[in-house]
Amino acid sequence: MIDEIRYHADDLYNELVAIRRRIHSKPELATDEVETARFVSEMLEGAGIETVEGVAGTGVVGFIDGDEPGPSLLLRADMDALPIQEETELPFASQVAGCMHACGHDAHTASLIGTALILKRMRAQLRGSVRLVFQPAEERVPGGAKPMIDAGVLGAMKGRDEPRRVFAQHVSPELPAGTIGLRSGMYMASADEIYIHVHGKGGHAAAPHTLGTDVVVASAHIIAALQTVVSRHAPPGVPSIVSIGRVIADGATNVIPALCTMEGTFRAMDETWRFRAHELIERIVVDTAAAHGARAEVEVRVGYPALENDEEETRRVRQAAVAYVGEENVVDLDRWYASEDFAWFLQNAPGAFYRLGTGGSPATSHPLHSAQFTIDEDALRTGSGFMAYLALTYPDH
Ligand code: NI
Repeated sequence: MIDEIRYHADDLYNELVAIRRRIHSKPELATDEVETARFVSEMLEGAGIETVEGVAGTGVVGFIDGDEPGPSLLLRADMDALPIQEETELPFASQVAGCMHACGHDAHTASLIGTALILKRMRAQLRGSVRLVFQPAEERVPGGAKPMIDAGVLGAMKGRDEPRRVFAQHVSPELPAGTIGLRSGMYMASADEIYIHVHGKGGHAAAPHTLGTDVVVASAHIIAALQTVVSRHAPPGVPSIVSIGRVIADGATNVIPALCTMEGTFRAMDETWRFRAHELIERIVVDTAAAHGARAEVEVRVGYPALENDEEETRRVRQAAVAYVGEENVVDLDRWYASEDFAWFLQNAPGAFYRLGTGGSPATSHPLHSAQFTIDEDALRTGSGFMAYLALTYPDH
């Protein structure tokens, strides 16, 4: 079976490269993936695949039914680009100013189209139904995953049963093309945004004693005190991070401002601790400001949950990866403190999120979200073929 999948992946390779370049050259930001979604639908429908458009905005869902009955399985790709000006000078570089596929979602989408084309060709060997989910807006909170789930992509749909398993992949410039990376259990962090306003009385910097408070000094104490959320309150062994990355106190050498605003992020890998931490953040900010005679407002904007790979499913995906790319090309990963809205799918169904190696040379090793980011397109063979292999061989599928 592997040889047959590889044959199709190789046969489709030039087409997949063209698909990826087409998507890459016309990137669209979160929730604006109108042309990309239309292109995906055309590709699927052109291959005779039943397709539903306009799911939770620009989402597209395709269905491939095997010749034999069996349960449903869901494969997901995200479609959106980032607000970055591309600096690669590739012939198929972004034609849209200030917008770029710098996170490889063009490769995810092209790969899943490839998987669809392979499965369509091999449906005589497919049991059950495969649901192809092309999701909008992964890059911007609140994300596209939750709205698609709310729209029913994890339920019974178009006469097919609800999917029993969910899988997705993400490119990795740190791994060479041809490899697959995995981590069982907690893999990625939750990400919540912190917005703080510290109010006081502005005035002459030479007379702070007449103001009763100094929002700049109060804010400095708040920044330091927030670190105790992690160092004094986080359970040992639960990774979490508080970072304040933006501090605006727009006074002058001789002016104490009346307002200091701060923004930051909170990341964790435990959902119970995460929400307890939000309460601590609010308390520490408000009380520290009060201790300095200032008044603080805090907003913690809840983002994506932590991403936890099911242990049993990850073990099976690893087994499949060893069979498909060879033991020497399967990499065990460290935790990754980025966040990813596929976490919503994994909160609702067993499955796994794995990495697709797309690096290996200086040109393909630029980090995700960099203006120089690009992939080794050879990875499209593994990206499309391995997902097809998962769908065709999944144990109880
Ligand atoms: Ni991404």
